[in-house]
Amino acid sequence: MGVAEDSSLFKIVKEGKALLKVPNPDRFRDKRGFYDPAWAPVFYNPRMRVSRDLGSVIVGVYGGRRGDVRILDALAASGARGIRYAVENRGLVSKLLLNDINPLAARIARENIRLNRLEGVADVASEDAAVLMLRERGFDFLEIDPFGSPAPFTDPALRSVSHRGMACFTATDMPPLLGKYPKTSLRKYFSWSLRTEFSRELGTRILLYFIAREAAKLGRRAIPLYAHSTDHYIRVCVKVEKTKSGSGGLPGNIGYLWYCRKSLHRGVIEGIVPRVPTSCPSGGGKVEIAGPLWIGPLWDGEFAEAVYSLYMERMGEGYLSRKGLKIAELIKGEVNAPPFFYTTEALASRYSLRSEPSPHAVVESLSEAGVKASLTHFDPKGFRTNLPPEEIIRLIDGG
Ligand SMILES: C[S@@+](CC[C@H](N)C(=O)[O-])C[C@H]1O[C@@H](n2cnc3c(N)ncnc32)[C@H](O)[C@@H]1O
Repeated sequence: MGVAEDSSLFKIVKEGKALLKVPNPDRFRDKRGFYDPAWAPVFYNPRMRVSRDLGSVIVGVYGGRRGDVRILDALAASGARGIRYAVENRGLVSKLLLNDINPLAARIARENIRLNRLEGVADVASEDAAVLMLRERGFDFLEIDPFGSPAPFTDPALRSVSHRGMACFTATDMPPLLGKYPKTSLRKYFSWSLRTEFSRELGTRILLYFIAREAAKLGRRAIPLYAHSTDHYIRVCVKVEKTKSGSGGLPGNIGYLWYCRKSLHRGVIEGIVPRVPTSCPSGGGKVEIAGPLWIGPLWDGEFAEAVYSLYMERMGEGYLSRKGLKIAELIKGEVNAPPFFYTTEALASRYSLRSEPSPHAVVESLSEAGVKASLTHFDPKGFRTNLPPEEIIRLIDGG
């Protein structure tokens, strides 16, 4: 009996509106009872459900604008993403190709297509995603959800996706992107990362910088439409357009971060040959540099608004998570806010506050003082403002 036929190794779960045949975690636990989705013969991580919830709504917004979407889920595993996208956007998704290099995954994906009655729309392939994408054209929505880094698949995805199509990239190689291994970030993304309290945003900007550069060299522009990062992943969605001339949208959107760990001052330096401050404006602190980075917007305001509205509308059907809605709501509020958020934790510790304020209270105080401020989905203790740290402290602590 083959693995696929052994019914005890798999089970059927409902995720969103889809039924999915996925590995039964109880059959793949270690001696301590711990389960890592990578240990199963076909990958399925229930913790990525919220990311798939948002992905499905994003397909709905994108498809709603175009009237029709052809999706390539290039590293599909069981097909969980692509199948949800098609089931939850019936009528909008006219074609779905699920691909995975693992033949068993492809087999399970085929079963999942049948389970969800998608035979007329969906098909399965089993080959190297890079080879497939270099050959196949005509998909307008590409999903790149690999193990670890999407870097090796970025160039083929950007070549493959249709003009004005959308490509979404998930990265789970958090240690390089969040600044634990800056040398690895340099190797993979040609960008120096830093460990800061806002590293999730920094990592998102590193990934977008890399994608924008890969697109530019191909005579294409990658324009961020949506980005989110919680738990152990960063996911960015870009619109990809052909540009015959010009700069590929890089100038003005590429630059560096400077950051003083001592005072928490930070700033953006535009350009590729930056004029770097040598000391912190607060006096004395050493300035560290990260980059090059995407310093342009992380979201398209209208797109983020539409994702929130559609998510809200679909909440009524009862199949989407509250957590996804919260993320979409926070993103809607931070779309035009300044880059590189603060955290109340870092401020309270660095400036020895009597107690750590809530980020809600901080945003309220700043807004009452006429200063633009917002929360951020990147961190429950995070908030965004243009003010330097000492002025934030003066406003919230009366200091
Ligand atoms: C993180 S999993 C995908 C998870 C899936 N998108 C989901 O939401 O459940 C990554 C998948 O990529 C597949 N893979 C790895 N290298 C590949 C390659 N070069 N081409 C195609 N698939 C590949 C693996 O077999 C694995 O199933």
